[in-house]
Amino acid sequence: MLFDERPKDRKEDLFDREREVEEIINNIKRPLLLISGVRRIGKTSVLLVSLNEAKENYILIDCRKLKENYGRKELYSLFSEALSSKISYLKDVLEKVKGISIAGNYVEIKWGGKNYISLSSLFDELNKKRLIIAIDEAQRLRGPLSKEIKDAIAHAYDYDRNLTFILTGSEVGLLHELIDVENENSPVYGRYYLEITLDRFNKERSKEFLQRGFQEISIKVEDKIIEEIVNYFDGIPGWLTFAGNEYATKGKIEEVKKTAVKVAKGELENLIEEKTKKVSYITGKRYRNALKCIAKGENSWSKLLSCMEKEEGSTISTSVLDNIIQNLEKMSIIKDYEFLDPVYKEASKLL
Ligand SMILES: Nc1ncnc2c1ncn2[C@@H]1O[C@H](COP(=O)(O)OP(=O)(O)OP(=O)(O)O)[C@@H](O)[C@H]1O
Ligand SMILES: [Mg+2]
Repeated sequence: MLFDERPKDRKEDLFDREREVEEIINNIKRPLLLISGVRRIGKTSVLLVSLNEAKENYILIDCRKLKENYGRKELYSLFSEALSSKISYLKDVLEKVKGISIAGNYVEIKWGGKNYISLSSLFDELNKKRLIIAIDEAQRLRGPLSKEIKDAIAHAYDYDRNLTFILTGSEVGLLHELIDVENENSPVYGRYYLEITLDRFNKERSKEFLQRGFQEISIKVEDKIIEEIVNYFDGIPGWLTFAGNEYATKGKIEEVKKTAVKVAKGELENLIEEKTKKVSYITGKRYRNALKCIAKGENSWSKLLSCMEKEEGSTISTSVLDNIIQNLEKMSIIKDYEFLDPVYKEASKLL
């Protein structure tokens, strides 16, 4: 079903994307692949369908579950969960490893103390069998452990021929910062990766997506409404899916837009809150003002600066503004002073 809101994992449910899935399958034996694209573009779906189509054994680490300042315990518990889901395939490898114990179907990994196992050693052990390690929203691995994670990936890249890493990320600049192969000081320096970038659907495809989706749930929808959804949600499959569902239940396009904006606003509020908690109250406020000003159409450095200074009632330094712009770009929220997602733009007006 196209309008199922969970990530798709079967080829029959995935609309379009044949080329991307094929490219992943053709390159599935490479050490490192990246799937990138803005939020809701379909990264997890393309990843899952490709893994299933490739008929390969894989574990999936969902880094959305990690808090900003996560520690080794939290990271290892994600690995535990992922390895446990593949216990029947991995049992013979894992049961011989010091630092790993298996209780029933649950794999425990020691994250501290005497028999603690490092990530690199864990990868070496896993390498005894062919395995794909898929890391969803990998940019969230940034933070205190990122050096160790990069070291481990670089090590596996060079020595663990049975392993393939597939990383996805919706904050594309931050994902590239984690896998910074061009930085001489980085552990992964000089390695090659294949990157599959997911683009939005064009108008024609978006229309087809909605038509097919509504057909599947036997709802007749006028062309005019379909056009309006297509124009408003700008080819982002996750929003098209959301809009299809909402329209099916509410039957009012204005309501659909309103609910989408509310969801997006919540996500932006979270971002602001994270900045407030991690840096300071004033930083959070500045992100809020920057988003509001860009949404108003302040589409140059100087216009943005003067708008933000007006909002705040004080001067803002060049470096502070540069930093905010750079970070919003790295998070794939804006590019060249424009929002990448039209719903985020509308939501920002309400911040
Ligand atoms: N090609 C597609 N065909 C059918 N449904 C899709 C497609 N791409 C995305 N979707 C739907 O859109 C929503 C978002 O997809 P998915 O979770 O795969 O995207 P994502 O890029 O991983 O999103 P996020 O950035 O939020 O993690 C889901 O409801 C999914 O079912
Ligand atoms: Mg995802």
